Amino acid sequence: MNKRSEGHPAALQLPREWSLVEDAYDEKDNQRKESLFALGNGYIGMRGYFEEGYHGKEGASVRGNYVNGFYDTAPIHYPEGAYGYPAEGQAMLNVTDAGILKLAVEGETFHLNRGHVRFYKRVLHMQSGVLHRLVEWESPAGHRVLIHIRRLVSLTHRHLAAIHYEVTALNFAGTVSLCSAMDGDIAEAEGPPDRGGDPRLGARRTEPSLLFEEAGSDGRGGGWLKQRTRHSRFALLTAMSHRLALPPSASYSLSEKHDRQRLSVQYDVALRRGDTFSLSKFISHHTSRDTREEELLMQSEGALRLAESRGFDGLAEEQHAYLDAFWSRADVEIKGDPALQQGLRFNAFGLLQSAGRDGRTSMAAKGLTGEGYEGHYFWDTEMYVLPFFTFTTPEIGRALLEFRYRTLEQARERAKVMAQRGALYPWRTIGGEENSAFFPAGTAQAHINADIAYGIRQYVQATGDEAFLVRQGAEILFETSRFWVDLGHYDPGRDGAFCIDGVTGPDEYTAIVNNNAYTNLMAREHLRYACETVGLLRERYPLQYARLEREIGLAEEEIREWQRAADKMYVPYDDELGIYAQDDTFLSKRKWDFADTPPENYPLLLHYHPLVIYRHQVLKQADLVLALFLLGEQFSREEKIRNYRYYEPLTTHDSSLSPCIHSIIAAEIGEMEAAYDYFGRTVRMDLDDVNGNAKDGLHTAAMAGSWMAVVNGFGGMRLDRGGRLGFRPVLPPQWESCRFKVMHRGQRIEVFFDREQVTYTLQEGEGLVILHDGERLEIRPEAPVRRELSADREPAGGHLGN
Ligand code: BGC
Repeated sequence: MNKRSEGHPAALQLPREWSLVEDAYDEKDNQRKESLFALGNGYIGMRGYFEEGYHGKEGASVRGNYVNGFYDTAPIHYPEGAYGYPAEGQAMLNVTDAGILKLAVEGETFHLNRGHVRFYKRVLHMQSGVLHRLVEWESPAGHRVLIHIRRLVSLTHRHLAAIHYEVTALNFAGTVSLCSAMDGDIAEAEGPPDRGGDPRLGARRTEPSLLFEEAGSDGRGGGWLKQRTRHSRFALLTAMSHRLALPPSASYSLSEKHDRQRLSVQYDVALRRGDTFSLSKFISHHTSRDTREEELLMQSEGALRLAESRGFDGLAEEQHAYLDAFWSRADVEIKGDPALQQGLRFNAFGLLQSAGRDGRTSMAAKGLTGEGYEGHYFWDTEMYVLPFFTFTTPEIGRALLEFRYRTLEQARERAKVMAQRGALYPWRTIGGEENSAFFPAGTAQAHINADIAYGIRQYVQATGDEAFLVRQGAEILFETSRFWVDLGHYDPGRDGAFCIDGVTGPDEYTAIVNNNAYTNLMAREHLRYACETVGLLRERYPLQYARLEREIGLAEEEIREWQRAADKMYVPYDDELGIYAQDDTFLSKRKWDFADTPPENYPLLLHYHPLVIYRHQVLKQADLVLALFLLGEQFSREEKIRNYRYYEPLTTHDSSLSPCIHSIIAAEIGEMEAAYDYFGRTVRMDLDDVNGNAKDGLHTAAMAGSWMAVVNGFGGMRLDRGGRLGFRPVLPPQWESCRFKVMHRGQRIEVFFDREQVTYTLQEGEGLVILHDGERLEIRPEAPVRRELSADREPAGGHLGN
């Protein structure tokens, strides 16, 4: 690579479909870009802040560094509390900032708002997993340098991140100083600024959460810092080490400074004109949540030694190899629209970066990219993120479910507080305890239990991983089934139907209702699956079943009760409209006046009191429409059309979880324009900042939703109750072709379709049976099977009655 003659390395000439490129620095957009250029590996997250700091006048910077599952607690103050409100809230912490690198050229400090930026480019490369920044800068005194910074968060060594900082003196001989630091004093000013009453941001901490304990140096410019969280008492050890590479003739001096929580080392390098030098910085984070406390230092030393021995390039090579394997299973390729293609890859890459994979952590609503929703895990994981992993990278899918098993005890405790038997999972959490301070849109969303059960069933059926079901899944299913039968009751006024009162469904614009149809349908499915699992365990794993029965004191009568509640489940239906009612009272409410709601009043949650919203027929997000997708076999096509057409016009999509689900159902019922439009809103949700809040972190559920919109929507993929995979592809007219792969029970199948036909190819495995548009196909190795696309996806006509 000849950097000087070209002005920029060839490595930065990447196809848009595989990269995210910023050609000019715009300070107004800084925080959003920090989210977009964030790197992570499911454990460490680093926002895309500038190493040298932010010096803009407008906007601000959130120099976010996060460790998944590492949080502090703080008391929640309720002016009017009540029994059972969570006493404490957990928040993902912005931890010690080890990404600091400050450059000075002949005594002049480099930053983007000083001197003259002659060339600027930032590139996130999704095949290599490396973030590049290339700047040609001229200092106010006229000294020009070319700076090439590469950054990665290792996907193969979860405790490690690395920065490679390279400087070339273009037109002068002189001293270039590079100061590398880590700072454990995360000032409140670094936290998200004005929250403007936005409930999605969460409470602001008023005191530092990380308290200094100890620090040390390795005598070679490296050092470490140990801190403890104020309330949760977790320990964090952050460490850094360096490797300097100089041209043969260059000399340098090094000076170190330790000031309690701030450790720094400065390299002053004497360069000749045209010389290039580089500093590799290796960063590690370890916490007492995942490493024995007495081993923190030793483990971090080990991680840094490993990084030094690989060097930045070695780590980058491993990163590339890891991603090659990932993309071979997870890539979705569409021909005909580079912007959408870029969005799909950005989303898949983002999911990989943020998903916990150690069984102790999960996926925060904003991943590891920002502090929106305080780093909490929601149902987003099981209903949106999990399918992506189940069908592409099942080992991560399993780890996400293991998190629920690990926190089953807290769910049992929560059920007790709520005066119920069994287990109730928290609406939002990091450590497993309920964190929702607003119960109408929190604890009342009991559907979380059924969502987790659904995720388990889908995972087990798609992977065949019965070991997980036997060891962990079954216990979750049984404890959460106990909750349902205790929560609901048989209503004599409704022929003894099983009713569930006082819950909130997925749509948070309607709260605390009786018989939310989604909840009841999903609870029915949950109870049925629990009964089937009892049957499976009894037959195939009798010893394990006997042990579980004993351990949780499961009585025969209880299982009969699950079956009975499922059989008698009440699902509200309106005969006149021929649709399911969202709940007992929804259809009798006044409809929201959309015509008189100005565009600036969206999202409604920021402009109307919750009660005003609750009194109307208006949806924040897919509710019954989501059930149409998840439990598709239980509805006829006509029912799907009628229900979709009723609820769709009432839906604001104020939640980013909504458009993808509408896209899937629209595609299924032949409303291709709507399907494409909703897909567009999902796939570039963050790249185009559709919801205007990407600065607080990326919308991981929507990112996963874009994968579902292609695979389940346009690809028509469904896993039937028997665990069989079926497809019914339809190509949006804007595309030339589409290709994706899915894993099914250890086999990998590629689905490729263009306007005329679809080709199914087995890429891994012995052979499997799938359904194409209802037709049974056997797919064998090296024998692709082709079929014409079915032509009956025209928009449904008016022949459906009512
Ligand atoms: C949605 C919830 C979601 C949460 C976190 C809310 O706006 O209504 O369904 O779980 O965001 O993403």
